[in-house]
Amino acid sequence: MNNNTKLRWGILGAARINQQLMPAIVEAKNSELVAIASRRPGAAAETLKKYAPEETNVQIYDQPEALLNDESIQAVYIPLANKEHAQWTLTAIEKGKHVLCEKPMALTVADIEAIETAAEKHKVIVMEGFMYRFHPQHQRIKEIIDSGLIGEVRSVRSCFSYLMQAAREYRIDNTIENGSGAMWDIGCYAIHAARLPFYNDTPLSVSAMAKHIETGADISCNGIIDFGDGKYAHFDFGFEHARRAEYEIIGTKGGLKCHNVWAKQAETPIISWWTEAGQQCQETLALANHFCLEIEHFSDCVLNQKKPALSLDDAKMNCQVIVAALESVKSAKQLSLKEK
Ligand SMILES: NC(=O)c1ccc[n+]([C@@H]2O[C@H](COP(=O)([O-])OP(=O)(O)OC[C@H]3O[C@@H](n4cnc5c(N)ncnc54)[C@H](OP(=O)(O)O)[C@@H]3O)[C@@H](O)[C@H]2O)c1
Repeated sequence: MNNNTKLRWGILGAARINQQLMPAIVEAKNSELVAIASRRPGAAAETLKKYAPEETNVQIYDQPEALLNDESIQAVYIPLANKEHAQWTLTAIEKGKHVLCEKPMALTVADIEAIETAAEKHKVIVMEGFMYRFHPQHQRIKEIIDSGLIGEVRSVRSCFSYLMQAAREYRIDNTIENGSGAMWDIGCYAIHAARLPFYNDTPLSVSAMAKHIETGADISCNGIIDFGDGKYAHFDFGFEHARRAEYEIIGTKGGLKCHNVWAKQAETPIISWWTEAGQQCQETLALANHFCLEIEHFSDCVLNQKKPALSLDDAKMNCQVIVAALESVKSAKQLSLKEK
């Protein structure tokens, strides 16, 4: 494959998540890692050495602006802290870069609207990095729903949690308004996955309750999204529970479960389903690297002018539900989601 068929990527930050994304960019068939920037001296070079030691031609920049001024770079991956996502996504767009921004893309719907306007103006593609959606297990689940096997989807339960270790406490060391806490970290997955099986419905309202710690961050939350006509999605996430990343769907004729939403490359993906008619099945799917599939998808969209699987409308809707859930926690009320 020659270089014209590979998208030229830069990484805007020496974040821990590069452990997954950096090898994914290197491995992706249609992508090339060209540069990485960090505001901390030595951090970009150290990250490269750790996660992609064989990549000796990668340019190191000591400022994100310098990377964005490199005209040879076509796309950037933004793994900065949550509260910096919107600002750097906008700056990158204004420099004409396509942007894959880590979840959550922004902390307000207004920020995503500004990103959308800028992306249209500069004719670039922008996508929120919900990597899990690129694992084929979710496509298989959609196929099963569409086949009618479990009937009409009536109820969803999505659960995401892990027990917070000291090394990860930087994720809860600030306020929710500053992008810290469980909602912005893993709650965004729980809400995203809870919305997934209701792909033909629009959320009408949300109610939630949460536990907070001294820093102002939330560490545990439960909530319900109302999709109307008795269709509800229950989400449950936190840092005080054993590890879970799953969702379960109940239809009028049966049920379906994704057992490991965060299935990594070496983890066997398992989904199971049952029907009122007495059928039961556990499907073991092929191993897949959702990080690499995410990068290949994004590169394909840019190189071949396709629409990304995760739209900005989806990012806005997820953010709208999150913001309403946070508001519901504060007010102890059920919050309506205004039509956009
Ligand atoms: N998709 C996934 O599976 C997944 C998993 C985990 C996290 N995430 C998301 O990825 C993003 C990054 O998360 P992360 O946990 O990897 O963040 P992180 O390590 O805290 O890094 C975030 C940014 O903070 C700066 N930084 C890193 N270490 C630092 C330190 N010791 N002192 C001061 N600054 C430091 C870096 O920017 P500079 O290099 O410019 O200083 C870095 O880009 C978040 O938005 C998170 O939600 C996604």
